[in-house]
Amino acid sequence: MKMPKTTLSILLAVVVVVLVAVGARLLVWSGGEHSTIASIGGPFTLVNQDGRTVTDQDFRGRWMLIYFGYTFCPDVCPTSLSVAAQAMDKLAPAEQKQLVPVFVTVDPARDTPPVMKDYVGAFHPAMVGLTGDEAQVQAAMKAYKVYGAKAKGGDAQSYTVDHSSILYLVGPDGRFVQHFPHGTNADEVVAALKKHLK
Ligand code: NI
Repeated sequence: MKMPKTTLSILLAVVVVVLVAVGARLLVWSGGEHSTIASIGGPFTLVNQDGRTVTDQDFRGRWMLIYFGYTFCPDVCPTSLSVAAQAMDKLAPAEQKQLVPVFVTVDPARDTPPVMKDYVGAFHPAMVGLTGDEAQVQAAMKAYKVYGAKAKGGDAQSYTVDHSSILYLVGPDGRFVQHFPHGTNADEVVAALKKHLK
């Protein structure tokens, strides 16, 4: 049996389109860490530990290792921020200059700039602490898909806040690159950072 030439070329065209589509799909998948959670991160306007308003634009050109939590946190936040600080210390000085560890509070009512300043300073001299008004903090949390809610019990000063515990790596262009779940150790973070830092 002989197929007409036009049918054959249509078939060929369909095959080519399918192959290109599959190829494009595979490319997207191979960039998994970027594509699947590409909607994490984005613009923010917050207040740093010196009381100055800063935006995500102020960090362009440097990598950010961002963590959301609160200074009254009994153990989860200190553990994660220690990992960020240890990772920073394990980098060469030239690499350290390309990275800023950033702590964003989910509890702006208690975490004022002076409170943040004392807190981040205790972890690492390069660490930036960001707070803001309720709306600014909520917007930043929403951008990073961070969960945070006051736990029941406790009074106005002693309440705890349930929150997600994730380190986010953001590139010098402001785009989210990858995250490290709670429990990732400093060596694992450093290994990931070394792939990106020059
Ligand atoms: Ni915490």
